[in-house]
Amino acid sequence: MLMSNFLKDRKSVRDFKNKKLDNKVFEEIKEYCSGLEKEEGQDSFEFMFFEDGDRIFKSLKGLGGYAGVMIKSPHYIGLNLKNEKEESIIYGGYYIEKLITKLTNLNVGSCWVIIKDVDLKTKEDLFNIEKGNIDYLLAIGYPIAKNPFVTEPFSSRLGVEDILFKDEIGKPIEVDELESRGLDDLFYYIRFAPSSYNNQPWRFVLKDHKVTLLLAYSSKEQLNLTDAGIIMYYFESLIKSMGINNRWKLIDKPDYEDEKYRYRYIGEFNI
Ligand SMILES: Cc1cc2nc3c(=O)[nH]c(=O)nc-3n(C[C@H](O)[C@H](O)[C@H](O)COP(=O)(O)O)c2cc1C
Repeated sequence: MLMSNFLKDRKSVRDFKNKKLDNKVFEEIKEYCSGLEKEEGQDSFEFMFFEDGDRIFKSLKGLGGYAGVMIKSPHYIGLNLKNEKEESIIYGGYYIEKLITKLTNLNVGSCWVIIKDVDLKTKEDLFNIEKGNIDYLLAIGYPIAKNPFVTEPFSSRLGVEDILFKDEIGKPIEVDELESRGLDDLFYYIRFAPSSYNNQPWRFVLKDHKVTLLLAYSSKEQLNLTDAGIIMYYFESLIKSMGINNRWKLIDKPDYEDEKYRYRYIGEFNI
């Protein structure tokens, strides 16, 4: 499927059939995950598989998920970050999202579940981690069939003008310029990426042949570097389908600030 259509249709699945995944499918997922770990190549994370979803759900009910609303699923995949480097957090997000693309193609539904605030002792007892920490689980399983007569809940998205600027944050970019550079679709579709609390913190600054990615944050909307990795993955995938086969380069610069937000510099991409 075209990445643009994929992104537009992609949705978190929060209601799963009470049915385990086929063994063959599960094995394929495990193999794919091990390929992703190799691709990252830094040994900064590992995927952990929890086939007994009931055990995880019962222990994390009231603790995991937004405001303790734990998602119930037949299985979970944990993202175990082996160190606390910012780069590891970013690429953890990148590779979980790459995994979600694979899962969707296998007709397996998924939803990110935040467990950052769950105490370490509970996590240690539950996950049996030798090294590292799990702040995110992916709930996975077969989605419950949609009712064609019920309108699905939809997470709203910011406009292109809210996330993309020319030369500096806050300075609008003309639609004509985007169209003439063939970048209008890229920034239209990228907005459908998921983010924690649907905050959509990504901001792009286009200057000549360089796109800079920043993340907006404030006391109300905390910085979450996982969101950076997710958008980097989709950006690379979308732009690859336009024939630009490049990767983000992470950058380290003091934050930028305006009246509303602070902005963390994340990376640069040459187009
Ligand atoms: C890092 C991250 C953490 C998330 N944590 C949760 C969660 O704990 N519970 C939940 O219901 N959804 C969670 N989500 C799903 C987002 O709320 C969802 O992706 C966003 O609202 C956009 O909706 P969509 O995925 O249906 O397009 C999370 C998403 C991300 C990227």
